[in-house]
Order: sequence, then C-alpha cells, then structure tokens
Amino acid sequence: MDYYSSCGRYFVVVFVTTLCFLALSVQCRPFEYSEFRVLSQISASPSPAPEGSDSFSPSSRENSSAAVFSVMSYGAVGDGVSDDTQAFKTAWDNACQSDESAVILVPKHYTFMIQSAIFTGPCKNGLVFQIEGSMMPPDGPNSWPKNFSKRQWLVFYRINGMTMQGGGLIDGRGQKWWDLPCKPHKVKNGTIPPGPCDSPVALRFFWSSKLIVKGLKIKNSPQFHFRFDSCHDVHIDSLYVKSPSGSPNTDGIHIENSNDVQIYNSVISNGDDCVSIGAGSYNVDIRNITCGPSHGISIGSLGIKNSRACVSNITVRDSVIKHSDNGVRIKTWQGGYGSVSKITFDNIHMDTVRNPIMIDQYYCSNKACLNQSSAVYVNDISYTNIKGTYDVRSPPMHLACSDAVPCTNLTLYDVELLPSLGQRILDPFCWNAYGDIKAVTVPPVFCLMEGFPQALLSSDVDQC
Ligand SMILES: *[C@@H]1O[C@H](CO)[C@@H](O)[C@H](O)[C@H]1NC(C)=O
Ligand SMILES: *[C@@H]1O[C@H](CO)[C@@H](O)[C@H](O)[C@H]1NC(C)=O
Ligand SMILES: *[C@@H]1O[C@H](CO)[C@@H](O)[C@H](O)[C@H]1NC(C)=O
Ligand SMILES: *[C@@H]1O[C@H](CO)[C@@H](O)[C@H](O)[C@H]1NC(C)=O
Ligand SMILES: *[C@@H]1O[C@H](CO)[C@@H](O)[C@H](O)[C@H]1NC(C)=O
Ligand SMILES: *[C@@H]1O[C@H](CO)[C@@H](O)[C@H](O)[C@H]1NC(C)=O
Repeated sequence: MDYYSSCGRYFVVVFVTTLCFLALSVQCRPFEYSEFRVLSQISASPSPAPEGSDSFSPSSRENSSAAVFSVMSYGAVGDGVSDDTQAFKTAWDNACQSDESAVILVPKHYTFMIQSAIFTGPCKNGLVFQIEGSMMPPDGPNSWPKNFSKRQWLVFYRINGMTMQGGGLIDGRGQKWWDLPCKPHKVKNGTIPPGPCDSPVALRFFWSSKLIVKGLKIKNSPQFHFRFDSCHDVHIDSLYVKSPSGSPNTDGIHIENSNDVQIYNSVISNGDDCVSIGAGSYNVDIRNITCGPSHGISIGSLGIKNSRACVSNITVRDSVIKHSDNGVRIKTWQGGYGSVSKITFDNIHMDTVRNPIMIDQYYCSNKACLNQSSAVYVNDISYTNIKGTYDVRSPPMHLACSDAVPCTNLTLYDVELLPSLGQRILDPFCWNAYGDIKAVTVPPVFCLMEGFPQALLSSDVDQC
C-alpha cells in the first residue's frame, strides 16, 4: 500500500509536470532560449529609475539597498496602446541577473499594454515585482498575436523567491473572451458551437517556490485570475479580485499540484469559484476570505477522466461567503481514484448561499456522464461553526457520495443554516454519507449514517 501510493503520487507529479512542461516549452522555447539571450546582450545596465520613483516610496520597499529596474528605463511607454512587452522582458532579464536583490518597478499613473509573456527564473537573488501602475493584455482574441498561446497571459516560471505586490491594477479585459460563442453560458441547447474557445489565465505561476503575492487588485480576467501549479511555499495576502458574476471560468485563485500555500485576507467576487483547489494539493491554509457573488470555495473537481487525485490537509476558516451558488464544496467526477482527506471548514458565515455545505461525487459538467464503479474517496471532513442563511431553492446541505466508495467521517459541529427568505422546503440531502453530528444542527440532519460502510471494509480504497 505504502509503496503503491508513494509511487502513484510520484507518477502523478511527474506526469502532470511533464505535460505542463511540454505545453510550456512548445509555447515559449523561442523567446526563452534565443530572444531572451539577445535581449540580455542589448539591454542597458541596471540604473535607478528617475521616472516613477516619486510614486514609489522607499518605505514600501522590501530592501532599501535593492537595485530598482523601472520598466520606463527600458523603453516602456505606458499609454495603454503601445506594446510594452519588450520593456518588461528586458527589465525582468536585468533584474533577474542582478547581483543585488532587485525591484522591478511598474510605476504609478501609467497603463502598460503587454502581450502574453513568460518570465523565467531562476534568478540570482530574490525579486520584488512592484506593480503601482496598471497592466493589461491586448483586447480580446482578435488582438491576440496568432502565434501565442491563448491559454495564458503572464507566466512566471521556475522562480525561487519573488514578492509581487503594489497598489496597482491588473485589468484582464475579459469581455470579448467571455462573449465567445463556445462559452458555457452562451451554449443554449447543449451543442457547443465550433470555433476557438481557449482563453488566457491572467497570472500563472508555474514550478515556482517562495512566492509572496499581496495587495494587488485584479479584475475581469478572461479565465482564472491567478493560477498556481506545481508551486510550494506560497503566501497570498490582501488580494482584490473582481469580475462579473456571469463571467465564465473566472476562478479567483486556482491552485493545483501545490503545497504549503496560505491564502489570507482577500476579497473575491467573480463568475466561478473564489478559490479552487485541484489534484496534488496539500497543506493549504485559507483564512479571512470574503467571497461572493461567486461559486464559493471549492476542492475539485477531482478525478476527471479516471485520473487519480490526492488532496489533503486543507483548512478554510474565518471567512464569509455571500450570494453564491455554493458555499464550501468538494466535487469529484465518477470513475476517478485517490482521496480527499483532512479537510476542515471552520467559522464560515454564509449569506444567501445555495448549497452552503456540499459534497458532490457525481460532478459532471456536460450532462453526459455514465455511472462508474470507482471514485475519489472522501474522508475526514469537518464542518464546524458554519452559520448564516441559504437560498431555499437548494437544500442547505447536500452530501451526495459515491455508491462505490461512500464518504466517511464527515463531522458536523455547530452548524446553523436558516432560509434567507421564506421557509425551508428541502431537507438536508445525504446519499452514502457516513459520519457524526457532534452537536445539534439547524436544520437537523437525520440522513447522515453512523459507523463505517461495509462496502469500504471489503474494497481496496486508494487512500493516497
Ligand atoms: C510571434 O511572432 C512575432 C512576430 O513574427 C515574433 O516577434 C515573436 O517572437 C513570435 N512569438 C513566439 C512565441 O513565437
Ligand atoms: C443547437 O443550436 C445550434 C445553433 O443555435 C444549431 O445549429 C443546432 O442544430 C442545435 N442543435 C440541436 C440538437 O438542436
Ligand atoms: C480580513 O481581510 C480584510 C480584507 O483584506 C481586512 O480588511 C481585514 O483587516 C482582515 N481581518 C483580519 C482580522 O485580519
Ligand atoms: C497541515 O498544514 C499546515 C499548514 O497549512 C501545517 O502547518 C501542518 O503541519 C500540516 N499538517 C500535517 C499533518 O502535515
Ligand atoms: C446512475 O445511477 C443512479 C443511481 O443509482 C441512477 O438513478 C441513474 O439512472 C444511473 N444513470 C445511468 C446513466 O445509468
Ligand atoms: C475523523 O475526523 C476528525 C476531524 O476531521 C478527526 O479528528 C478524527 O481523527 C477522524 N476519525 C477517524 C477515525 O479517522
């Protein structure tokens, strides 16, 4: 069992990172290995930035002895029309190779239009990416350069130690992407019209560690706002994420295959999950998030296309979820394997939320999923102090577990959910859900089963 699971985890990690790496290398080889080197040769030596330095107070600097690389010193215009990509790449390249710790400065009062770009490390020293002005991509799919990936805008790759911060604004200009006819909310009769559908993630951090991302405002991403994959030691603090509630796939912060991640003190409203946690994530601590309108905080979806997913030790506490389609949710596809375990939801206030507490092991985004006999095992999930109101169109609790692999050790303690308007119509729903009620809940949950299911004693569940 031990051998099998560690080997399995290794395989998943290698497989996923190899896939991503292949995807990245196809997209970025040319600039990573040739263009980048040419840029290094022609670029100016590091110089303190006269322009914009007035708007960047020394007190906000991490390290007062750091060299400042203002994008203005490398030819950025910042009029919102000119293409400032080269200036950013050159500033990055110089800062990254700097012998002192470096600050890349995006000064206040300017708007920088930047094409899709990959900022690659490792860098010689720690970096601060100080965003005081505005940054935005080209406006919509027709303005996107033909030979660039439409799946990502700014990518930070193989960075070991970077703080990205500042009072600036990142505007993803998502509208024209959301309007593509293939987007889920546009599809009328279940038939997805042909045509390109890829949309860029605004900020993607890949294969990186020791990241701090704080204080930024980001709005209207074409797709996810932040995505962290294969990263560890990530501290996210005080982010403001805002997109319309109808914008498709605009998850606020998505993490995947990442560990030791903290997400604190952030305010997110968007058209999909506030925070979504994908396969291979563990040791994730989420605190003081205000979420909504949105689709809530989600673990999953896991186990797509019969894949293995291992997620454990995730805590979400001291947060508010309002006017959202879901509250705290775990979603898995039928046919997957692996497990989700040691998940704690503690002190979450719900305000007019559909499905405040939800486990859905029958997740299916396309309405054409067949019943399958394996599932990602859901175990040790605790809900403590979950209070507030729910939208009576859905049951206050929905624990739909797999026939093949029931959920076990779900614990409810101090749960109190009242209709936001009207009367309770639906009782809490459970299906193959086992666990304990530690104190009386409102409404009462009679459907949770005690003990441990026979089905699991005799089957060989993959516990990761
Ligand atoms: C895309 O084409 C432009 C213009 O031909 C070129 O400058 C750029 O390097 C290309 N980018 C990639 C990622 O191939
Ligand atoms: C669905 O709608 C599209 C366009 O509106 C149409 O071309 C297609 O035939 C429809 N499909 C079905 C199964 O009704
Ligand atoms: C929670 O986050 C909000 C938004 O960033 C912040 O204003 C507030 O001070 C935080 N509360 C605590 C207790 O840290
Ligand atoms: C769970 O994650 C937290 C960080 O979020 C960490 O401090 C703790 O040691 C982890 N627990 C285990 C058993 O790994
Ligand atoms: C899957 O199983 C459920 C519950 O056992 C049943 O209601 C449903 O009809 C099945 N669906 C298919 C496609 O077999
Ligand atoms: C059940 O879950 C709780 C809280 O998640 C945990 O403390 C406890 O150890 C688990 N019990 C078993 C038998 O695994």
